[in-house]
Amino acid sequence: MDRKKFLKNLGFGLVATPIITSISCSSKDDIIKSTTAACGVTKSDMLGPYYVSGSSQITNLNTQNFSGDKIIVSGKLYGGEDKSKPIANAMIEVWHADSDGIYHPVGDGNVSDYKADKITLRGFVNTNAEGDYIFESIRPGVYPGRPRHFHYKITANGYKTLVTQIYFKGDPTTADEDIDSCRIIDFKKDTNGIYKGIAVIHLASN
Ligand SMILES: [Fe+2]
Repeated sequence: MDRKKFLKNLGFGLVATPIITSISCSSKDDIIKSTTAACGVTKSDMLGPYYVSGSSQITNLNTQNFSGDKIIVSGKLYGGEDKSKPIANAMIEVWHADSDGIYHPVGDGNVSDYKADKITLRGFVNTNAEGDYIFESIRPGVYPGRPRHFHYKITANGYKTLVTQIYFKGDPTTADEDIDSCRIIDFKKDTNGIYKGIAVIHLASN
């Protein structure tokens, strides 16, 4: 499937950004199936000290064009008890550290507390009618005491808000925190040097 078709199928054709390229649909389906079979409701995780509310809807979180390994995260959102029910129009807020393990800003609060050019590697995406989501950024760095990770806060009508984190397969420090395998994502570099991974999330009903 070519890039245009892939994005159109996801419902993101109009917000395509330059580095999003095709992902094999069959392998995505396989990952979704295996994750759904093995995992229940996605475990929550700490919010951490760097959540900033009010971030923008955005497909490419790297608004300051920081250097780093390009990465595309896609996935699907399901209702936890009904593993076949995709959740449409959910809001997935994402924030993460830069390649050096630093957040922008290093703080919390609301976006209005900061100058616009101090805010990056944050934003939200919505799931489409099939529960699919996608965003691109740079691979988060590590900072002392934590494995490499993305933060998610997911809000959807009829479901409990989930604050969680997703992690990187092959990062030995995930063992330090006893992280369940359902949130450890197998990011693989494609032929263009872009990391790609699929994170399937299951929300609990209200
Ligand atoms: Fe963090």
